[in-house]
Amino acid sequence: MASLTIRKLDDAVKTYLRLRSAKNHRSVEEEVRVILRELIEGREEPLTPFSAPPAQSIAPVPQRTGALPEASVTLIIGGGIAAYKSLDLIRRLKERRVEVRCVLTKAAQQFVTPLAVSALSHERVYTDLFDPQSEFDAGHIRLARDCDLIVVAPATADLMAKMANGHADDLASAILLATNRKILLAPAMNPLMWNNAATRRNLAQLQRDGVVLVGPNSGEMAEAGEAGVGRMSEAIEIATAAERLLRPPVPKPLAGKRVLITAGPTHEPIDPVRYIANRSSGKQGFAIAAAAQAAGAEVILVSGPVDLDDPAGVTVKHVESARQMLEQVRAALPADIAIFAAAVADWRVANEGEQKLKKTAAGMPPLQLVENPDILATISKLADKRPPLVIGFAAETEHLIDNAKTKLARKGCDWIVANDVSPATGVMGGDRNTVHLISKNAEKNDEITVDSWPVMTKEQVAIELVAHVAKSVTGKSLESAS
Ligand SMILES: Cc1cc2nc3c(=O)[nH]c(=O)nc-3n(C[C@H](O)[C@H](O)[C@H](O)COP(=O)(O)O)c2cc1C
Repeated sequence: MASLTIRKLDDAVKTYLRLRSAKNHRSVEEEVRVILRELIEGREEPLTPFSAPPAQSIAPVPQRTGALPEASVTLIIGGGIAAYKSLDLIRRLKERRVEVRCVLTKAAQQFVTPLAVSALSHERVYTDLFDPQSEFDAGHIRLARDCDLIVVAPATADLMAKMANGHADDLASAILLATNRKILLAPAMNPLMWNNAATRRNLAQLQRDGVVLVGPNSGEMAEAGEAGVGRMSEAIEIATAAERLLRPPVPKPLAGKRVLITAGPTHEPIDPVRYIANRSSGKQGFAIAAAAQAAGAEVILVSGPVDLDDPAGVTVKHVESARQMLEQVRAALPADIAIFAAAVADWRVANEGEQKLKKTAAGMPPLQLVENPDILATISKLADKRPPLVIGFAAETEHLIDNAKTKLARKGCDWIVANDVSPATGVMGGDRNTVHLISKNAEKNDEITVDSWPVMTKEQVAIELVAHVAKSVTGKSLESAS
């Protein structure tokens, strides 16, 4: 396989590569790889059998879409016995879809070889601050910043001392000084080194500087007969700590709460093949269900007929008519919060045909309508199982706020989400929504407040509404809860 020395390319090509890689936050070497991959993927004609390697030796080409690594780590391996555990750490990080680029100190190379590290990380390994090839594009700066996190494992007493005092006389310490990323240290050393006053001072300084620590653990040392605090954490512990920093856990302010949501239209049968419906898509209610589930709630979604996939992790009851919807809503009680976002038909056909209605000489069959049960009012006025927070939706085409305030009082719910569904807004069936949250404040003599939100996607409206619900029910905000 030919190798390419970037330094020897034409100046124009080098300049192009340097600019393109800087723009894409990649090293020049990675950029060349991306360009080659794009070139091959963009080929219209298949590779000829003549140029293709034998079938059994073709490694599966990673799919670019959806398969890109989600996070990247620069792993600095220091010169300690525990360096062997870093080989496993590389695997553990890659299992978590973390791209790993490794830097070995001079001492680390006494314990593990760059070849082994490179084979496991599938990347070239960096060892030298004064490497012309990687310094061509300011390699140590890129290693310091082209990542989401820097992990030092094992973090030797020497590396910690250098960090605490701002040294930069080799590649590892220069990266650690030049970075603006979070640093996770996995110290590993003899207990006497760990407890030495100098190490304690350095550690205290590093903690003040915001460095995060995993371990060290207590246990047996490599040195025969020695034990104490100083063992490097296991690879899996370090990978878990790294993942917490890379992908902080999503707050779950609604954990332990049961949320009942309705969504979509209802279909009110005229005869076995015809029905009365409305233009509701169910998107808003489904988005609320997904947001509540993401906030940790147990979610029961009662949905009319929609063309949407059930949200993951949500119990979905599919119904057709308003009466079926009410039945499922009742069955789902008790709940802590009920959000009625469905566009329930106000009326149904009283004289529903048992057989398909036929055209007759007598003219059009008269359709008699009767009122459907009012789900929002029924649940809001329940004496026993009324959820502590009941939220209705008011879809209006005129006098939006006034009508919504009247609805809040008439139905007996706590909040109304009012939205203008006149055709010009495109809300019905569309992806965006402009809503006003109208709420009754029990602590202020049932004072009504109107909170008008800017135009948002239905997902954003859902997240905002769930945040308000969480604040009201638990006092926790989505940002602060954990
Ligand atoms: C066999 C052996 C094991 C060592 N293990 C450790 C260790 O676990 N932790 C440590 O801080 N230093 C250890 N050292 C000392 C370091 O290798 C030494 O301080 C070195 O300069 C560290 O370089 P680095 O921090 O650039 O990797 C060990 C040395 C030897 C010879």
